[in-house]
Amino acid sequence: MVHSLTKTSSISGFYKLKPQDRLAHVKEFAGLSNEECALLMNTGSLPLDVADHMIENVVGAIATPLGIGMNFLINNRDYLIPMATEEPSVVAAASYAAKMIRDGGGFHTSSTTPVMIGQVQVVGIRDAKAAKKQILEAKEEILKLANKQDPILVGAGGGAKDLDAKVIHTTQGDMMIAELYVDCRDAMGANAVNTMAEAVAPSIERLTGGKVLLRIISNLATKRLAKAWCTVPKESVGGEEVVDGIVNASAFAAADPYRAATHNKGAMNGIIAVVLATGNDHRAIEAGAHAYAALKGNYTSLSIWEKNANGDLTGSIELAMAVGLIGGAVRTHPIAKIAVKILGVKTASEFGEVLAAVGLAQNLGALRALAHEGIQRGHMSLHARNIAVAAGVPERLVEQVAEKMVKERKIRMDRARELMKELESARE
Ligand code: MEV
Repeated sequence: MVHSLTKTSSISGFYKLKPQDRLAHVKEFAGLSNEECALLMNTGSLPLDVADHMIENVVGAIATPLGIGMNFLINNRDYLIPMATEEPSVVAAASYAAKMIRDGGGFHTSSTTPVMIGQVQVVGIRDAKAAKKQILEAKEEILKLANKQDPILVGAGGGAKDLDAKVIHTTQGDMMIAELYVDCRDAMGANAVNTMAEAVAPSIERLTGGKVLLRIISNLATKRLAKAWCTVPKESVGGEEVVDGIVNASAFAAADPYRAATHNKGAMNGIIAVVLATGNDHRAIEAGAHAYAALKGNYTSLSIWEKNANGDLTGSIELAMAVGLIGGAVRTHPIAKIAVKILGVKTASEFGEVLAAVGLAQNLGALRALAHEGIQRGHMSLHARNIAVAAGVPERLVEQVAEKMVKERKIRMDRARELMKELESARE
């Protein structure tokens, strides 16, 4: 392909232009048609000016389907789960698994206080251990300084609660890392924590005689954990053989990082869909989840499935959960605001617990399909069931119609209607 000599990705002042004017450049560069440009400018429920204030160099918005995860009974309360994802079967599998879990009384959850860690890197110190001691001796003074940065957070009961320091051995020599523990209440906390870490840096330099480099939140949020657990009656999951299959799948993931990555990806399919729907930082959640899975030295599964004395399936998941309900896109994106309303959570901790439950359900949905019928067939059956429902097949015939369509490999609305008629006339 021959590139024009004038084609350049270095356009001075591009960021200062209006979205329409930026798009004119992109149009020329990429050879977009008028129709394609019109589609980009049609940003739907996210107004172009809002999008333009959210990130840089905006030329449009991309829509992702938003579905509702059903059947979630968490701590005896019903939730509708808004899920944004491009992947088919995720919403259906979560809803199906939540229904099985509901049969066993639903999800139970817990969480720690919403504490995030802010790291301050100190280099160039002669005696790192002595520096650590100095920092810890000045803890109260440093915490006070940190809390001065965010009276609103402190007023809400949050703020910098503790300080620790550690010495790490690196290729660049020993470093001292001071860590601020900040209770972020209902915020994700990156802004508050980063501001505090920056504010205390000069004092830390003065106390240690070293030089502060990085001052930033850690996404490995080990002090902000959410947990969910459940029991699924063996009959609901498909019998004892399926229970054993899921327990074996869980053992495989616990022992093998290659499987654990995919096992955890399955759980994250659900979690990230909700995090995305609510305008939260899904990269932070993804990073925190996988780092937490590797915390003990080898990467392993975030969830565990076992068989209890009754032969029923029990499952639990625990992961770092740095999500917020205030600040950022959660408050600016109109759909994110509606998603939070649908979810009905009142605190970030409750939100984190719901996410853990969604992850557990999604994981169960995937493992059941894998252990029972293979994921492709599972995907096909889910798809077929969806098509049957969309074609107006009554509930009592959905299973039969879906099964036939999968067998024939003809998963279509017209075929679903034909099969429904056949089954109905056979009953008469
Ligand atoms: C696909 O998006 C997710 C799965 O691979 C998860 C798993 O293997 O457990 C099905």
